[in-house]
Amino acid sequence: MNISLSELDETRFGVVTAKANLDGQDNLANVTRWCVEKGVEFLIARIPVEDVYLVQDMESSGFFLTDTLIFYKNAQVNESPCNSPEGYSWRLATERDAGEVGILSEKIFNNYHGHYHADRKLNKSDCDSVYSSWAVNSCLNKNFCDAMIIIEFRTAIVGFLTVKTVGHEICEIVLNGVDPNFQNKGLYALLISLAKKWALERQLKAVIVSTQLNNLAVQKVWCRQGFEPYKSFYTFHKWFAK
Ligand SMILES: CC(C)(COP(=O)(O)OP(=O)(O)OC[C@H]1O[C@@H](n2cnc3c(N)ncnc32)[C@H](O)[C@@H]1OP(=O)(O)O)[C@@H](O)C(=O)NCCC(=O)NCCS
Repeated sequence: MNISLSELDETRFGVVTAKANLDGQDNLANVTRWCVEKGVEFLIARIPVEDVYLVQDMESSGFFLTDTLIFYKNAQVNESPCNSPEGYSWRLATERDAGEVGILSEKIFNNYHGHYHADRKLNKSDCDSVYSSWAVNSCLNKNFCDAMIIIEFRTAIVGFLTVKTVGHEICEIVLNGVDPNFQNKGLYALLISLAKKWALERQLKAVIVSTQLNNLAVQKVWCRQGFEPYKSFYTFHKWFAK
């Protein structure tokens, strides 16, 4: 059983929060017992889509579905063009970019369709701030990512993507998005090309990335750039009576 308390979420939502990565071998009664012992009020649980019997047990035990995540992998990264359109340029972010990236993330992830926003009990502006504070932390703290690639239009940051090495010769694209005023110009495709370039320069062979099943825009870009779907997870929430 892989479960732990989440201080970040507790601070943000004001309730004792735990996060679990479950699989078909886990016993739901043990999960519940652990939560009761730790005084957990809010549990976020991920489970592989194929572990359908445990999924059904969760459904009949007060867990409710909040999103479905699909992972893609580019197992043999190759180079693709990284030409910036006129007026645009790219570079790696530094700590000094944290403030601007935070404000940009508020715009990008306003009312985003992630699992937090899907929970009616959570305040929507608290859910928005999950992503903006995550983006700020990604600029300031190397535990969150190895690098943040940003695209600028003139001197304003209009898109960003974070990458983190997660295993032997493999990195993950973690948080990414484009300013709503600059979407549909191919900037996200450029960010993905730049992430592949970043990986290749570090002799990393594979890149993984994930999103909600209904985020079609990013999946279209990934498929065009050599990524293939390889695993999927449901996210469930459960609230415990105090
Ligand atoms: C998703 C997102 C990154 C796309 O950025 P973008 O710079 O507009 O993307 P691009 O211009 O490179 O291309 C996106 C492609 O998806 C298409 N697209 C855009 N919105 C779409 C939608 N709702 N459904 C299907 N396709 C869509 C675009 O038309 C384009 O395809 P095309 O080349 O055939 O025209 C941006 O909309 C965004 O930041 N969204 C909110 C945050 C987010 O989803 N982040 C990613 C989390 S994994």
